[in-house]
Amino acid sequence: MDALATLPLDPQALRADFPILSTTIHDNVPLVYLDSAATTQRPRQVIAAIVDTYERHYANVHRGIHWLSDQSTDLFEEARESVRAFINAPAREEVIFTHGTTESINLVARSWGDANVRTGDEIIATVMEHHSNLVPWQQLAERSGAVLRHIPIDDNGELILDEFDKLLSERTRLVAVSAVSNVLGTINPIEEIVRRAHAAGALVLVDAAQSAAHMPTDVQRWNADFVAISGHKMLAPTGVGVLWSRRELLDAMPPFLGGGSMIRRVKLDSFEPADLPAKFEAGTPPIVPAIGLGAAIDYINAIGLEKIHAYEQILTRRAHDVLADVGGVKIFGPPLENKAGIVSFTVEGVHAHDVAQLLDRQGIAVRAGHHCTMPLHKRLGVTATARVSFYFYNTLDEIDLLGRALADAKGVFRRRKA
Ligand code: ALA
Repeated sequence: MDALATLPLDPQALRADFPILSTTIHDNVPLVYLDSAATTQRPRQVIAAIVDTYERHYANVHRGIHWLSDQSTDLFEEARESVRAFINAPAREEVIFTHGTTESINLVARSWGDANVRTGDEIIATVMEHHSNLVPWQQLAERSGAVLRHIPIDDNGELILDEFDKLLSERTRLVAVSAVSNVLGTINPIEEIVRRAHAAGALVLVDAAQSAAHMPTDVQRWNADFVAISGHKMLAPTGVGVLWSRRELLDAMPPFLGGGSMIRRVKLDSFEPADLPAKFEAGTPPIVPAIGLGAAIDYINAIGLEKIHAYEQILTRRAHDVLADVGGVKIFGPPLENKAGIVSFTVEGVHAHDVAQLLDRQGIAVRAGHHCTMPLHKRLGVTATARVSFYFYNTLDEIDLLGRALADAKGVFRRRKA
């Protein structure tokens, strides 16, 4: 049978929707984009939704009593409903538009954290967290006198849940964990972590930045308390993100930012906050990025997240095979069945930045460095890794090209050294 016919989706057909993927760079080499964990590319459908909004529907939302503002507001609120359905949230009001995962996490740390975390309380994160799910908790600990603890990982890059149990206590107020590691690709057992945290009386925040576009998100099945997402990692523009939380938590939390829109009433010396979701959306929100996010969700839904995940596993398997063939490559992260489409590695004798530069010469875009996870790299015993990360628009041929380019890069380096 034709190998392509066995794939869960047709990457070539989908690639046709992404103008940037037919770019050639340097001396006319085709661009091979293997950096979707940093940011995904956008299909024409999302770009068209953005252009259409600016050309025909754009005004400020929830403000004007005029036709254009109603149009813009309807599109913006339709996007909120798309997000609600996409993450299976019980209510539209629980979907807060922010400017990205980082802001969503900071919102929780500042608003819920400052109101609820006291000296001697504990917050548990993991050693694999992105800095955006570490630093806000460090800042909260500085403000409140709380203590930070971290779930360690084993040599496969998986969380050691027995150690998690030892860290949990009646002092634990919050557990902050990513659904998928942006370096190891580890798919964390969120439902199990939530079950254990809740049994200890702690809340759970899930950083879903690396999972939302790649596998289904069901906030009710996770049963977590806060979930943070970024639009730009799921085909949408930069500048829009989402915080989901349960209504009773959001109702009890003080507003994060103050300004227009987030109020019901203002006097010179006081204010009364607005209802959800406006209470957490001070100022003019990311109107067009949010509408773009709605279009991105439509696009992803039309393919299907199960198919996307299944296809990424095929790409990841091929990447492991190809990297093993190069020789002298060390891959970090768990076995394939528990790994998303993210593969970080080192090449013996070649610095990760040199790997990335040599690959770039062959048109292949990868990320190199600590990927905003310095503590994780310390645990891995390296200062930097090279990282390839996939989406449904990548092909098996591109992965094979990566293998050949890496073998060439190794050769170049060996010759340079000789
Ligand atoms: N958080 C993004 C990454 O891991 C930027 O590359």
